[in-house]
Amino acid sequence: MKRVITYGTFDLLHYGHINLLRRAKALGDYLIVVLSSDEFNWNEKHKKCYFTYEERRQLIEAIRYVDLVIPENNWEQKVNDVREYHIDTFVMGNDWEGKFDFLKAYCEVVYLSRTPEISTTQIKNDLNTTGGGR
Ligand code: CTP
Repeated sequence: MKRVITYGTFDLLHYGHINLLRRAKALGDYLIVVLSSDEFNWNEKHKKCYFTYEERRQLIEAIRYVDLVIPENNWEQKVNDVREYHIDTFVMGNDWEGKFDFLKAYCEVVYLSRTPEISTTQIKNDLNTTGGGR
């Protein structure tokens, strides 16, 4: 069984996220999503989530492509996760291109193209400026 892992915040779940998860799962048989905790988002990524970790976890777990959700608490856990869960392929969107190449010592590393014109930040901005819609 080929095991795939990916990391992210996945706040205000949108079709760019679904596209990413569908293509990640297609690279193997078992997909693990490592979901950024609220503390990690705030302290390290300087992002305040709309949905809490628990709410985001429930949404991600409901996606058919996802087999397991675990928390992301720091930048350093990736090597441990890849070893502990016997990961074959690490996947991220290409906004992270090259950033995790050090994991190639442990598994395959794949950067998937982002879906254009959608992001959590974009949704927040649009709602602020237009009051809804795009
Ligand atoms: N992603 C994607 N296409 C998009 C948006 C996100 O493929 N249009 C991918 C990212 O590359 C990442 C995963 O989805 O691998 C989770 O991304 P995340 O940062 O949580 O979502 P964004 O919408 O990019 O959030 P933000 O605007 O806060 O950066």
